[in-house]
Amino acid sequence: MELSDVINSRRSIRKFREEDISADAILQLLEAARRAPSGSNLQPTRFIIAQSATAKEALGRSTPYKFIVKAPVVFVCCADLTVITTREHRIGELVKEGAFEGIDVDKNHPSITNSLTMDEEAVKAYLSMNVAIAIEHIVLKAVELGLGSCWIGRFDRNQVKEYLSLDDNIFPVMLLPVGHPDQSPNARPRIALDKLVLKTI
Ligand SMILES: Cc1cc2nc3c(=O)[nH]c(=O)nc-3n(C[C@H](O)[C@H](O)[C@H](O)COP(=O)(O)O)c2cc1C
Repeated sequence: MELSDVINSRRSIRKFREEDISADAILQLLEAARRAPSGSNLQPTRFIIAQSATAKEALGRSTPYKFIVKAPVVFVCCADLTVITTREHRIGELVKEGAFEGIDVDKNHPSITNSLTMDEEAVKAYLSMNVAIAIEHIVLKAVELGLGSCWIGRFDRNQVKEYLSLDDNIFPVMLLPVGHPDQSPNARPRIALDKLVLKTI
């Protein structure tokens, strides 16, 4: 499948057939997530994979979107907040790999020192952004595999943390139910291209 076909045919899928997805498909989805880029290559994304009815029902109680229970798998997509402390090490790895070789980088630019003083909320937002990229890799890979998914941002994170006994450093960013689509919705409305670009300078 061409990437443009994947992008154009993707829809948020909220109805799933009662059919499992294979262990190999789950592995392929995880591998797509693993390939995602992340700031300073911090790789904060972590998953809990919910497949049992009990686990999915518990997750279903954390959100108004009860349809997630009917998906064969729900990925609880989390950020490991501790990775922020590995930045020097990760940047070191990138340097070793030659990522910046021959690249013009101003090491004294203020944005470099500013980013070292992020508060807890800023770190959470920054790492969540990185998790979002990995999620969209899964979403697009799922389309290629004939599967559907739906981002779920509206859920009680504390309830999920408690149910899963998550360490305080593991922040649940999104739920992502994945399964065989039992609907083929039309494309949802989008703003016009001329609204997308504020200016060309
Ligand atoms: C960050 C984010 C959070 C979302 N949260 C929810 C949600 O809680 N419940 C839901 O049904 N859909 C959710 N969606 C799906 C959007 O409603 C959907 O992407 C949008 O309406 C466009 O439709 P489409 O994905 O079919 O193109 C979310 C999407 C994103 C990207």
